[in-house]
Amino acid sequence: MQGVAAIPTGVSELDRVLAGGLVPGSVTLLGGEPGIGKSTLVLQALASRAAAGSRVLLASAEESAHQVRRRADRLGDIPGELLVLPVTSVAAIEAAVDDTRPELVVVDSIQSVVAGDGVAARSAASGSVARVRECAELLVAMAKRTDVPTVLVGHVTKDGSLAGPRALEHLVDTVLSFEGDRHHALRLLRAVKHRFGPTGEIGLFQMGAAGLAPVDDPARLLLGDRRPGAPGGTVVAVLEGRRTLVAELQALVVRSTTQQPRRAAVGLDLGRLAMTLAVLQRHTDLPVRMVDVFTSVVGGIRAAEPAADLAVALAVSSAITGVPVPADLVAVGEVGLTGEVRQVADLPRRLDESARCGFTRAIVPRSAPPGPDGMHVVRVDSVGQALAHLDLVALVPSAGARGTCPGTLLA
Ligand SMILES: Nc1ncnc2c1ncn2[C@@H]1O[C@H](COP(=O)(O)OP(=O)(O)OP(=O)(O)O)[C@@H](O)[C@H]1O
Ligand SMILES: [Mg+2]
Repeated sequence: MQGVAAIPTGVSELDRVLAGGLVPGSVTLLGGEPGIGKSTLVLQALASRAAAGSRVLLASAEESAHQVRRRADRLGDIPGELLVLPVTSVAAIEAAVDDTRPELVVVDSIQSVVAGDGVAARSAASGSVARVRECAELLVAMAKRTDVPTVLVGHVTKDGSLAGPRALEHLVDTVLSFEGDRHHALRLLRAVKHRFGPTGEIGLFQMGAAGLAPVDDPARLLLGDRRPGAPGGTVVAVLEGRRTLVAELQALVVRSTTQQPRRAAVGLDLGRLAMTLAVLQRHTDLPVRMVDVFTSVVGGIRAAEPAADLAVALAVSSAITGVPVPADLVAVGEVGLTGEVRQVADLPRRLDESARCGFTRAIVPRSAPPGPDGMHVVRVDSVGQALAHLDLVALVPSAGARGTCPGTLLA
């Protein structure tokens, strides 16, 4: 099917991720956690095609036509060529597709449809892997037979373990993952698998009263409410596909009351956090073992890559000592187990975006290439050097009595 023109959905960020649009006869699985905005996204794509004069079909197995209408009202005018079919049976969906020959069909969701329309079809446990797979196979066959691009919506839980979407990945042409924190406005759309284009692109959306709007400048959303000068905050530049996100990483420490201090991470890799804390414990005099450490990446994004290690180390050290990290500084670097700061992928891209966001200083690995014009780049070999440069620790490396840092926590 390579070479066949894709049909743009008209939702720019979705088309960016799809490398143009939906290919005729292709099947796309849109997975995401409950409430993340899957139905909103597909409805916007359908509405956009309908507005362009195409006949499109929404098979709504979860919501009644009335509920779909209410969402549509929130999104604005929905033109007449959007057909809403509130059915749960694949047979009925196939009949409607054969009947109306739409340009695009969306099934919302794959977990709530059944293969036939008889009672026997409903006997398998609702949402069971076998049933979901059976329905998906029928819908894939339908797409190939009719050449109608088909989008299947699928619910995924945080660990991706819910019956369904994961088991379908090999059946479909494209797997899109819609991610973000339900409690934040930013949403990321990424292609986990794409038979018709690269998978590096991500789409950024902001959920609002009028639905999902494309986000051109994520920094405004991610750095908007920052409190510069507050101890425990550091800025880091992370890569998401081909986009660079400059975001704040925060740490809070409190004196631990247990033998095993707590370590919590939101948007960070807990294993990497534990490693970075172990490095701080071993290579500095910060009393890491005495404190519970809570870390979070603001805005609901993930900074699980090693490039965030240095920023984690700085944020935790800042939280312990009470010394703020300078507000105009961005930190990028992997921290190795011997305390060394290591090179990371695409550093120039990260620094360019940081400079664009107004950051004028960067702390980076020794071997880093030159930074962008106007940015003062501080190169460090080790975490200890980085902390010393920023006055985040009194004794680096360990040379004298332990626990003598001048921080507010231990004062
Ligand atoms: N008026 C509104 N203003 C802002 N955001 C809204 C509004 N109404 C709904 N939302 C957002 O839309 C989300 C629901 O979107 P949607 O129904 O598309 O998600 P979904 O992934 O299809 O969920 P489900 O798993 O229930 O099918 C809500 O969690 C909320 O964040
Ligand atoms: Mg939904």
